[in-house]
Amino acid sequence: MPFSTLISTTYHPSIFSKKTNPLSLSKNPPPSTTYHPSCIRSARDEPSNKVNKPITKSSKPDKSLNNLDRRDVLLGLGGLYGATLGRAEAAPITPPDFTTCKTATDNGPPTYCCPPSTTSKIKQWEFPSSSSLMRERKAAHLLTADEIKKYNQAVALMKELPLTDPRNFTQQANVHCAYCDGAYTQAGYTVELQVHASWLFFAWHRWYLYFYERILAKLLNDETLAIPFWNWDAADGMTMPAMFVDKLTPLYDCLRNANHQPPTLINLASTTTTDLTDPELILSNYATMYKQVVQKTTPSLFFGAAYSAGTAAEPGAGSVENVPHNIVHAWTGNPNPNTPNGEDMGILYSAARDPIFFAHHSNVDRLWTIWKTLSGKNRIDFTDTDYLDSSFLFYDENAELVQVKVSDALDPSKLRYGYQDVEILWETKPTTTTTATTTSMLPTKKALAKTLKKKAGEFGSNPRQLGSIIRATVKRPKKSRSKEEKENEEEILVVNLELSRDEFVKFDVYINAEGEKFGGPASSNFIGSSVHLPHSNVMKNMKVNTLLRLPLNEALEDLGAEGDDDVEVIIVPKAGKGEKITIKGIKIEIGV
Ligand code: C2O
Repeated sequence: MPFSTLISTTYHPSIFSKKTNPLSLSKNPPPSTTYHPSCIRSARDEPSNKVNKPITKSSKPDKSLNNLDRRDVLLGLGGLYGATLGRAEAAPITPPDFTTCKTATDNGPPTYCCPPSTTSKIKQWEFPSSSSLMRERKAAHLLTADEIKKYNQAVALMKELPLTDPRNFTQQANVHCAYCDGAYTQAGYTVELQVHASWLFFAWHRWYLYFYERILAKLLNDETLAIPFWNWDAADGMTMPAMFVDKLTPLYDCLRNANHQPPTLINLASTTTTDLTDPELILSNYATMYKQVVQKTTPSLFFGAAYSAGTAAEPGAGSVENVPHNIVHAWTGNPNPNTPNGEDMGILYSAARDPIFFAHHSNVDRLWTIWKTLSGKNRIDFTDTDYLDSSFLFYDENAELVQVKVSDALDPSKLRYGYQDVEILWETKPTTTTTATTTSMLPTKKALAKTLKKKAGEFGSNPRQLGSIIRATVKRPKKSRSKEEKENEEEILVVNLELSRDEFVKFDVYINAEGEKFGGPASSNFIGSSVHLPHSNVMKNMKVNTLLRLPLNEALEDLGAEGDDDVEVIIVPKAGKGEKITIKGIKIEIGV
């Protein structure tokens, strides 16, 4: 079928209306609902409710494939719910039991994103042949017209599949929703299975893209087909890639921020408007990349916190997941009041309904490969078996259910793909500054006046809401460490916080910043941010306890503070309701 035929009658951006109601749609249905479900129906209306019935018993996970027999888990480890820090007795995350997949809410409109019914048995996934073709994922803005056409054709074919096929585009988007929105519990436990805000983030998304890409390639019958990456870390890639903004293609999604269309450049550091010129913004973005990737020297800083069987979800996001990953999501989604929750990209349940999601995550995945090549002895994958043996279920390119584990995802070349080698301009340290460079990065004068009157005391043991800037002096476990000690271990600031699961919030963390000397991402005083992306449109009051871990080695050197007994920490609320964030404790530890 020629491409023009594929896209001719099925694409309807113009019928989008925020008030669209499914009943009125059924009176006058569009010719096809397979493209852009979110543009032609209410964002909360789930297209798959009718086909996705609870899975039949025959597709229960094959126990022999699990690392632990489920019954053993129930009997032996189930009692560990409360003892979430019992690392010695912990176990890897088990794959979900699809038969227990549930709607992500019991009040309000459901987010039903369980996989379609299947009778297929779970197979153990196998590596592709080492002689099979190596796919090259290229920068979206560098694709040729022919490559763009092929990618469009493949996504069109995926959207044309019946909804009962797990490889259908909406079903693929639902895979992400189910793994992020409370649809699954960890097999053998009552706690949620969640793939964000922990060390599972990079590996799970690598698997997700792996199967998405192979499905596209199989549908198009073209082994070379690869997911392009949205190269937002390079000057020419800092706009939404042109291939995704063409309204007449299946790569378009009308639920995006209308003010962020090309040629508007993304600000990777912030969701608030900036008064930086484009050249300044590009440099600021490079500084953000340096801080988030290069300065994060250890696995726990880069990948996120440990997450083991039976423990609570979202123990702590790694640096890139916070920024730029969550920022790019929020920047791309359609803001309130046009959509209630920043659909599609701005909230996790609907994020993968936007085809740009996969290009965004292709770049996130690429950063994992780059991070491992940077200098430093701790730029390595975790070796903990709780990490390596954690496993998931996906439908593969043949619509067969397969079980995969984290350890098999660590080397992209074994998965037969790699990334185009494009210029990287953020690996060298930005010219640092300890003075404010832009007013848009500054807290308001009023907020400053309030906090600067008294010298910060210790944080103490009382939780504090982040309605305004928090300053606290934090003791260092050791000062004046040698070069070698610092190469072996990082000095890490650990902020223990509680947030509302479904509020977008962002705060920045500075150290030893006096007066109004807050700066942008290039400032030595700036050590990182926490950005929380909401999950679903319905789980409004759920609280999450999580950790933010930020490195101090380089900042302390730059500020000439390596010999100090303590560090003054300044936490600056930037977006969302700061009162919804509770800072419960701040400490410094030395480790990886
Ligand atoms: Cu699963 Cu970008 O999120």
